[in-house]
Amino acid sequence: EWTTASIVDDQIAKIREQIGDGRAICGLSGGVDSAVAAALVQRAIGDRLTCVFVDHGLLRAGERTQVERDFVAATGVNLVTVDARERFLDALSGVTDPEQKRKIIGREFIRVFEQAERDLKAEGDYRFLVQGTLYPDVVESGGGSGASNIKSHHNVGGLPEDLQFELVEPLRLLFKDEVRRVGLELGLPETIVHRQPFPGPGLGIRIIGEVTADRLETLRAADAIAREELTAAGLDRDIWQCPVVLLADVRSVGVQGDGRTYGHPVVLRPVSSEDAMTADWTRLPYDVLERISTRITNEVAEVNRVVLDVTSKPPGTIEWE
Ligand code: XMP
Repeated sequence: EWTTASIVDDQIAKIREQIGDGRAICGLSGGVDSAVAAALVQRAIGDRLTCVFVDHGLLRAGERTQVERDFVAATGVNLVTVDARERFLDALSGVTDPEQKRKIIGREFIRVFEQAERDLKAEGDYRFLVQGTLYPDVVESGGGSGASNIKSHHNVGGLPEDLQFELVEPLRLLFKDEVRRVGLELGLPETIVHRQPFPGPGLGIRIIGEVTADRLETLRAADAIAREELTAAGLDRDIWQCPVVLLADVRSVGVQGDGRTYGHPVVLRPVSSEDAMTADWTRLPYDVLERISTRITNEVAEVNRVVLDVTSKPPGTIEWE
């Protein structure tokens, strides 16, 4: 019988066979796939695995802690965090074009990650690189389907040739729901296992306009409120994801207390979907929308208006950039 436990045992045996007494590196993104891949390899080879987490400063509130504290607590894995926030902000300074942002974030990410890999390799004989490639990724990148290239998905890209790692891909035959079950079987926290999709370029593509430290702080606060209220309303499993987008180049007049404000709108983009290829806007309950709106406008100083995106995909993509 093909149970989750037998998938785990089987993969651990395969990983041990492949890696032998060697060492492996794994990049963590905060997402489910890399977390489960790393947890599997950790089970197989213990502290001969080192994970690398790049904080590019475009993360949501609490995401770094989730990796540094919760993932490490659940797995006992060796973790190196690279704080690259300044570097990404510098690289993004003055940039407003969405594809340009994606290219810059992707490029910087690879540079930072490669440097971390080189540093590790200088310390020990790390020959293996763990990747959370899933079965659909394998099919998609092989098939070269056009739809996935509408936006350049930087974390599903080719590896540089000079790095010379042998790849370890323990999730290569699994679909997402199987990966989640494996994650739970390995004792990973629900917050990681059931995390909704979040794009590699992070909040960088949810600020319409230039990405700055202040704007990131504003968006992070608004996003945290929306997520808190959706979770409190028990809606996490009903929604595919709910991007919160800061219209940083748009201002509108508002009134708060007896003062006139001239702030920015944020857009709520709740969507329902099976696979992100198509999506419908989610009919969130009005009382939940109201709580989100009231809290964001009360608690986030720069934001004086909350609007709802009621566009399906197509014609709108899920993300705004
Ligand atoms: P779109 O905006 O194309 O998004 O409808 C479809 C799904 O993909 C996510 N997304 C990304 N994921 N790197 C990622 O890993 C990216 O560059 C990226 N861009 C979009 C998006 O959040 C949605 O789930």
